[in-house]
Amino acid sequence: MTNWSDGYVSDISYTTGFYRETSPAWLSLATSLLGHRPPGRDGSFRWCELGCGQGFSALSFAAAHPTGEFYAFDFNPSHIENARLLASRAGIGNITFGETSFEELAEAPKGTYPQMDYIVLHGIWSWVSTTQRAHILRFIANHLAPGGIVYVSYNVLTGWASMVPMQRLMRAWCATQPGGTIEHAAGVLAFLKQVTATESLYFPANPSATARLDQIVSQDARYLAHEYLNETWDPIMFDAMARDMGESKCSYIGSATLTDNIDAVSVPAKVAAMAAGITDPRLRELVRDVGGARPFRRDLFRRGAETPPPGEQVNIVDQIVMTGLGRERDANIQIQTGIGHVTPKPEIYAPVLQRLLEGPLAFAELRRMPMLADKPLAEALQVLAFLAAGGMAHPTANLRMTRDGAAPSAALNRQIGVLNAQGSNLPYLVSPRLGTAITVDPVDTMVLQEFVNGPVNDLAPVATKMIATLALTGRAPVREGKPISEPVAAQAAMLETIEKFVAERVPLLQRLGILDT
Ligand SMILES: C[S@@+](CC[C@H](N)C(=O)[O-])C[C@H]1O[C@@H](n2cnc3c(N)ncnc32)[C@H](O)[C@@H]1O
Repeated sequence: MTNWSDGYVSDISYTTGFYRETSPAWLSLATSLLGHRPPGRDGSFRWCELGCGQGFSALSFAAAHPTGEFYAFDFNPSHIENARLLASRAGIGNITFGETSFEELAEAPKGTYPQMDYIVLHGIWSWVSTTQRAHILRFIANHLAPGGIVYVSYNVLTGWASMVPMQRLMRAWCATQPGGTIEHAAGVLAFLKQVTATESLYFPANPSATARLDQIVSQDARYLAHEYLNETWDPIMFDAMARDMGESKCSYIGSATLTDNIDAVSVPAKVAAMAAGITDPRLRELVRDVGGARPFRRDLFRRGAETPPPGEQVNIVDQIVMTGLGRERDANIQIQTGIGHVTPKPEIYAPVLQRLLEGPLAFAELRRMPMLADKPLAEALQVLAFLAAGGMAHPTANLRMTRDGAAPSAALNRQIGVLNAQGSNLPYLVSPRLGTAITVDPVDTMVLQEFVNGPVNDLAPVATKMIATLALTGRAPVREGKPISEPVAAQAAMLETIEKFVAERVPLLQRLGILDT
């Protein structure tokens, strides 16, 4: 820990993550579904991330929106160095990565940065001190545009209360140890095992703590350090969040976890019935969080809470266009919600998925399909929410994409392939059509580069090349989770992977603008 980090872990870098809910396209979808006007994304718009970590989400969104302006700040120099390097290698010019603390951002007078349409903070709020939160609120007060959206995620007490004493134990143990966070992250696991083996009465009284501790053992040390070893680890309740955001003139409009906006699937039925009778929005959210033992929230706040007239609301949602994500023939789709898994109703989703195979689908058309035509609008809107939440479809950011517009995404995808060839494990490709990244097998990011100049007739040399590339970093093709080193079997396994890529992936990647047709 250093004296510039205010108790936040700074001697071990964070993992590279990607968070779909923070993209302009997703935030725009969520805002529209919640009955509000989303910030415009046609020409230039401004998106900003506070505490961007390695900056991969921010860079993906910038690459996929060449006409947007992107800002991403973090005080850890290693994070910003890595982010800038990847941006410069991919030639992405519409993003500014700043090695800037929340305090420096708060002190920047109004007008230092442009007025932002979106400000996102993922994995920040419950991990930084109240002083840092005040800095963040000041930046939002000074730099969020009227009608702008704040996305803020945080741990909620209703799901984490039993871990508060455990985090204090971990911190106290670290304070007795020499070395830095790297050594602490490794050693604290052994300490936790010792604690759990003591038959402490705490565990039977708080069974969820045992389950959480069991999970910790298998987690990446960098994640563990940033999750539990900061001085502040303060899961909060929604009322505190809403009060703080109110200071920056921001009002709660709903959740970026789209299914959390639907009581029927996010809380037990009796909780939903009780919540329906509560008019005070803060009390209602608290009852829902208790009802769902909710561990995590992805809140959306808007500067200016007035909703547009109903006719305009319909107009806004009618313009949402969804693109299928290649799961049209997947019979086993399940959607994770606050109370478990939901299976999409085949009588509604089968025709929608079938229709998505033909191309993008506007909500104006979707809600007129026979199985929805006589249903209330709210029900058809839930279909949109489930399509996105379940990874069946994603809002389309750019219908009229040009080759030039797709070039930054292609350049970033090339660099992702290079990084993975060098031993990274980045399971993402950026789609200029969706305005976001999709999750793929990291090997596919390498294979993709063999297809960017057109179809390949002979796949065997591609398989040989991929095996040689993996071997450079001690890796081998994998089948059923096991690496295969025997040459003939390895060649066969890699060939199978590439054939699958050609048959299943290429058509999807073409639809998403990741590969030329
Ligand atoms: C848990 S990580 C989340 C990173 C990223 N948002 C993500 O989800 O991958 C928290 C990030 O906040 C940054 N951070 C913490 N305190 C900060 C401060 N006072 N000013 C700027 N960045 C800070 C850390 O360096 C770290 O990268």
